Amino acid sequence: MAIRNLRFEGDPLLRKVSKEVKEITPRIKELVQDMLDTMYEDDGVGLAAPQVGVLKRIFVIDVGDGPVTFINPTITLKEGEQTGSEGCLSLPNKVAIVTRPNHVVCEATNVDGEKFTVDATELFARAICHEYDHLDGILYPDVADGPVVDVDDLED
Ligand code: NI
Repeated sequence: MAIRNLRFEGDPLLRKVSKEVKEITPRIKELVQDMLDTMYEDDGVGLAAPQVGVLKRIFVIDVGDGPVTFINPTITLKEGEQTGSEGCLSLPNKVAIVTRPNHVVCEATNVDGEKFTVDATELFARAICHEYDHLDGILYPDVADGPVVDVDDLED
């Protein structure tokens, strides 16, 4: 178990486009495990490799049904719409309203090198879109419907 240091908004690395993973080496597997450990440590539902300073096209998601690792993902279908609040471990204690597709199909490779397809709706679809954006240097404030606000202010 290893927790990696998170990168936060303002770090130029978060704005770079990540590169395809050419081979799933033991180092990649270790990275994925560390990403999961880091995500769970901070109670996140998703984490992308650039958020731990690695510019590779990898993200992990757990919306409550167990971890799913996406290596070299492609989103092959986006349809419908959902509007709701969204946060990110790289912008701690902040949220904004973001409209995302309500249904996506995403193809990717797992840590064993096997290709798989997920058909995701609601929170899972939102998480895939959010994490995929990280791989292209996009953060949710870029695509939000309104301002980014402090979580604390919402409770007042
Ligand atoms: Ni994020």
